[in-house]
Amino acid sequence: MKIVTGSDHAGFAMKEDIKALLSGLGHIVEDVGTLSSDSPADYPDWAFKAAEKVASGKAERGVLICGTGIGMSIAANKVKGVYAALCHDEFTARMSREHNGSNVLVLGGRTLGVELARSVTKAWLEAEPEKGRHMVRRQKIETYESGTCDKEIKTSGSGRVIIIEHPLIQHKLSIVRDKNTSVKDFRDLVQEIAGLMAYEISRNLPLEEIDVETPVRSTKCFSLSGKKLAVIPVLRAGLGMVEGILRLIPNAKVGHIGLYRDPDTLMPVDYYCKLPNDIGERDIFIVDPMLATGGSASAAISHVKKRGGLRISLVSLIAAPEGVKKVSSEHPAVDIFAAALDSHLNEHGYIVPGLGDAGDRLFGTK
Ligand code: RB5
Repeated sequence: MKIVTGSDHAGFAMKEDIKALLSGLGHIVEDVGTLSSDSPADYPDWAFKAAEKVASGKAERGVLICGTGIGMSIAANKVKGVYAALCHDEFTARMSREHNGSNVLVLGGRTLGVELARSVTKAWLEAEPEKGRHMVRRQKIETYESGTCDKEIKTSGSGRVIIIEHPLIQHKLSIVRDKNTSVKDFRDLVQEIAGLMAYEISRNLPLEEIDVETPVRSTKCFSLSGKKLAVIPVLRAGLGMVEGILRLIPNAKVGHIGLYRDPDTLMPVDYYCKLPNDIGERDIFIVDPMLATGGSASAAISHVKKRGGLRISLVSLIAAPEGVKKVSSEHPAVDIFAAALDSHLNEHGYIVPGLGDAGDRLFGTK
């Protein structure tokens, strides 16, 4: 089985030992770090890296180690779909599997001896989740967890496919789907949804501490730590999402990309492409309300990559499974964000149920 490992400096030595144990037992080990105990390493960084691999199915299970194991387990359990158990003996390790279905084992590098850590790990690997009342209890945890806003869909690439299920977004999306919604309301709501999506997507932007002088006294506050962003609408429907995003992130630069399908080769060709000069340094959001076949989205991503874009996400209101599949197979590292994943494409290439042609509905051209 594929097992991801991670530790901070205080768990490094034990992690190396447990890695050898896991490989010796025939498991495939992917170590996210840290790579030495020479300098202090913050445990949340490694906990999130490893836990996300388990949550996305890229690893079946994980083993995390810090000094006490407490920090690692608190951090790993913040990742949806991860059930991390801090175990000190074989019994709790077995129970954490049989009763609680833990998929990440956490050990304390400063609290356990090496021999005990090995036997705890073996006991944990050998135990399987029980059904019956324990499964019912585990399901209660999963149900509680799924009440949160985002749903991640598993793909084979390293990029994530996230459906943002925030109630405000879902409510507004229902109105834009309605064929009787006016052009003005449609346009306003698409911008609002794009803004709300940007709010969700930007929740992990790094912050730095700054000093601020309030009218009362000086205090420590937080400021975005200089992350450079770019929003790139795919013309023309993507334009309908730009203002909504800029209202929240006014310093983002805006690029534009226009594509048409060559009638002979049927390949998408960019007839217009103007991107910020420093595109390679920016986190890029390519925006297009409908991810249908994925042809133009995938081509837009290729064009942006060709011009130096490195960290690219695609943001759509509604995605079809066909489009998600195409983009994630051609650009496996790209994150895809959508407010809904619909059923399929019809014979005309429209998303079902979808909302029709977003460009026509935004600009009143039909
Ligand atoms: C690092 O000194 C230590 O705080 C860390 O390894 C861990 O024990 C946190 O929970």
